[in-house]
Amino acid sequence: MTGQIQPTRALFDDVMVPNYAPAGIIPVKGKGSRVWDQQDREYIDFAGGIAVSSLGHCHPALVSALTLQAEKIWHLSNVMTNEPALRLAKKLVDATFADKVYFANSGAEANEAAFKLARRWALDKFGAQKDQIISFSKSFHGRTFFTVTVGGQAAYSDGFGPKPGAVVHAEFNNLDSVKALISDKTCAVVLEPIQGEGGIIPGTAEFIQGVRELCNQHNALLIMDEVQTGVGRTGKLYAYMHYGVTPDILTTAKSLGGGFPVGAMLTTAEIASHLKVGTHGSTYGGNPLACAVAEAVFDTVNHADVMAQVLSNEQLFRQQLAGLNDKYHVFSEIRGQGMLLGAVLNEQYKGRSRDFFLAAADHGLMALVAGPDVIRFAPSLVITPEDIMVGMQRFEQAIKQVVSGKE
Ligand SMILES: Cc1ncc(COP(=O)(O)O)c(C=O)c1O
Repeated sequence: MTGQIQPTRALFDDVMVPNYAPAGIIPVKGKGSRVWDQQDREYIDFAGGIAVSSLGHCHPALVSALTLQAEKIWHLSNVMTNEPALRLAKKLVDATFADKVYFANSGAEANEAAFKLARRWALDKFGAQKDQIISFSKSFHGRTFFTVTVGGQAAYSDGFGPKPGAVVHAEFNNLDSVKALISDKTCAVVLEPIQGEGGIIPGTAEFIQGVRELCNQHNALLIMDEVQTGVGRTGKLYAYMHYGVTPDILTTAKSLGGGFPVGAMLTTAEIASHLKVGTHGSTYGGNPLACAVAEAVFDTVNHADVMAQVLSNEQLFRQQLAGLNDKYHVFSEIRGQGMLLGAVLNEQYKGRSRDFFLAAADHGLMALVAGPDVIRFAPSLVITPEDIMVGMQRFEQAIKQVVSGKE
């Protein structure tokens, strides 16, 4: 019967739970940084899902890893381990501060594991009173009830009954606000090196180093949520590497699988030892297909020339956006790092990021918003200069449309 179903946007409203409001078009095919919809209309992809498709669409190395693994074995559960998971874990450990890896299916699940581990570590070592988690306003850590409560936007966690307790929020880039909350009751401070969903707000080196010192003083763990910033997106494998600060726990997802769902929590051997057999788990975490693809992403991304390309792409983006701003005067600032950039709308256009996003789609460009005031770009790390230029021409048309009021 499936052959008779017409998968239109209208069908979404008929059969899907209405928690999303997807665009009118339905993309059906992608190659590199180009995507085509059901009508064969082409789009340049400056969104990468939401900072996920780190090597564009259908990258040959990822297609090959997925199809090779698909012919071997798909699933085992964690009753047995598997080769792709072990290879990927070894590569992540060798390339980072971490000694141990826990695999999950998403960013939220990686963070859920991180928060549970921090609580268990503190309980084992210091007792039940050390349970406080400090997070930041505007932060985003996922949509499970624990992670959304830790996230700094109450609007996302309100309305679902009692929330997990002992979670407090400080102000990002304000060390005094952390000092005012942190104590020996704090088990962890969690931060995104660049707040993504909150508006592409980079943490300052002084702030991140200061938080590290405060954690040391109070025997609290520093958890870095690198779900959005990780796997090369900022021009280093992980963003913490820019700051000379090492986290105790790091979470990674999104770009890790380049479009295949996978997440991971990385930590030290000592901290990991507190998640003993049976304390936490997941049916699919470490699935062979996911890990085979993630290994291919890692092998492709973790090279100096790819990191250099991320930085040259950033320069081209910044130069082009500055040129557009000289002409149309719409941004107050371009912020972010590598292939995670935010064009902040100036006073005149504040609150209208969605208008720019919709106009971009009208002109064949996939972009993103990060709140009402920021247009976000999170393209493939290896997007070509040519695709950037074509995308920017389309973005100019979108800006013209908004500025002239013809939406
Ligand atoms: C920093 C950060 N953490 C966690 C998440 C949640 O990841 P997922 O949607 O894969 O659960 C996101 C998603 O946007 C994120 O940006």
